[in-house]
Amino acid sequence: ERPDALPRDLTGLRVVISAGGTREPLDPVRYLTNRSSGKQGYALARVAAQRGAQVTLVSTVTGGPLSDPAGVEVVPASTAEQLRAAVLTAAEQADVVVMAAAVADFRPAEFVDHKIKKTEGSEPQPLELRRNPDILVELVKGRRPGQLVVGFAAETGDPGGDVLDHARAKLARKGCDLLVVNAVGDGKAFEVEHNQGWLLTADGAEAPIPQGSKARFASTVWDAILRLSSSDRL
Ligand code: CTP
Ligand code: CA
Repeated sequence: ERPDALPRDLTGLRVVISAGGTREPLDPVRYLTNRSSGKQGYALARVAAQRGAQVTLVSTVTGGPLSDPAGVEVVPASTAEQLRAAVLTAAEQADVVVMAAAVADFRPAEFVDHKIKKTEGSEPQPLELRRNPDILVELVKGRRPGQLVVGFAAETGDPGGDVLDHARAKLARKGCDLLVVNAVGDGKAFEVEHNQGWLLTADGAEAPIPQGSKARFASTVWDAILRLSSSDRL
């Protein structure tokens, strides 16, 4: 996607995007995380800036292989708690908030301030976990008039339902305006260059996102956000 090929149709829009998996520390040398690379969130930020938006990217993967997108304010965060604080602060000034980050659902119940040692001849203690706050739900609760809140869902099918069944239930549970659904598993979505999925809106509209680059996918998401922000319809 060449920047000069994109319309500046997001000019004036203030957007916040979160990206990457959170890291939940267990001790000074260990943490729990997930397979999110942050690539889709970075592509959303890059494309939004290229289309003229004022972009804040709250990222858990600064200093990694992804370079800061041009013209984007990058705010580093690592844990779910840090991401929550940074996103909620930035959201106060935003027209659109996109939660592309893979927030760890749980964190270790306590942070041990020294390296945990294995003890000869005994099995390890079970790891006690606590729930992290649901940032997306908090954003929806605190949404200002006219502000759009966008969630992401990476789903696989299972005996309880297919990808879309799970996604529809998640949209209803979260209460966001738009849910961007990625089909995952079988090498789909995580750590790869291409994505495919669906856009689900609160009014029940559903549109497929064809297989394509993460930049192309990002542009499709911004097209939908633009339509929603101007007409409230997908
Ligand atoms: N999310 C969040 N805070 C959390 C967990 C998730 O803000 N503690 C956001 C994610 O950034 C994403 C959306 O909620 O935009 C959906 O995340 P997902 O993990 O798919 O939803 P969960 O409610 O955690 O459901 P699941 O049990 O399927 O993981
Ligand atoms: Ca989750």
